[in-house]
Amino acid sequence: MSLPKILYPVQTLDNQLLLPAGTVLTPDTLDALVDSSKSLSSPRRCSLLEFGSVKKDLLRFLSIPPWASIFTDQKEIARLLDSMEAVRLALPVLQGVAYFQGRDFYTYRHTLVVFALSTLLAMILSEDSEALVQEASTGPTHDFGKICVPLHVLRKTDPLTRAERTVLEHHTLAGYVLLAHYDQDPTSFAAAVARDHHERRDGSGYPRGVCLTERLVEFVAASDVYDALVSKRPYRPISYDNRTALEEVTAMAERNQISWDVVKALIARNRESKPHYSECVVSTEKRGSPPSDNVYGVIADQDPFGVTH
Ligand SMILES: [Fe+2]
Ligand SMILES: [Fe+2]
Repeated sequence: MSLPKILYPVQTLDNQLLLPAGTVLTPDTLDALVDSSKSLSSPRRCSLLEFGSVKKDLLRFLSIPPWASIFTDQKEIARLLDSMEAVRLALPVLQGVAYFQGRDFYTYRHTLVVFALSTLLAMILSEDSEALVQEASTGPTHDFGKICVPLHVLRKTDPLTRAERTVLEHHTLAGYVLLAHYDQDPTSFAAAVARDHHERRDGSGYPRGVCLTERLVEFVAASDVYDALVSKRPYRPISYDNRTALEEVTAMAERNQISWDVVKALIARNRESKPHYSECVVSTEKRGSPPSDNVYGVIADQDPFGVTH
């Protein structure tokens, strides 16, 4: 596997250049960057839920279907909020949250609901309470690299060109570099999740096309796909209905892109009786249909014969 290359400058919101375009991202490159980050004082950390209107906004997002039927048990919500309240992010990362809140509200809402759902999946599927806190802290930063993606690409309502798609997908490596820098740790778990949340178990994902084996990353990956389907997006004003979205996630398990127990946990939470995930029988029948104006995956400059312009 070739080493990934940085396609455009990775820089902070206050325009500090971390890596220029063209840098080959070797372990030594990242170590050198983190060594220079360590010469700076470590950034102050604050609770994400206590930052601005985050907690109020999150509770409002979760009160809307389908989230309202996933998060129903008040005791469980209180436990969930306890874990989420323990998540403290570096101040420049919180400024990234404010950046999305003001400039790209879709990404702001998305990162908060992925924060909640991936923490819930970790509560259901992981026995390890340390892993729960670790997991909770990665949901809200998985798309942090999008601060390096031009806003006109993030907000584009027409199909992306191939070049724009490449720029968008590069948020994974940008986030990896940025979070390793702010965590002052080349092995930062939040950085690894930012890099790997679009990878799949069968190696069909990006940016590296590696087989995803890390369980905790799968919780973010599953939450990410589910929210992307059930939410309005710039390129798709009408979202998938919940049944079709769950069928799409089920199809990912059928293709071995995501683990069955993660899909079962998500489907169990969507059932009124809230069965234990291990007892959740998943239908593989496909009855739903995607919204007709969905242009996800459509490349603007590719003709039906696969020739790009
Ligand atoms: Fe992403
Ligand atoms: Fe995402």
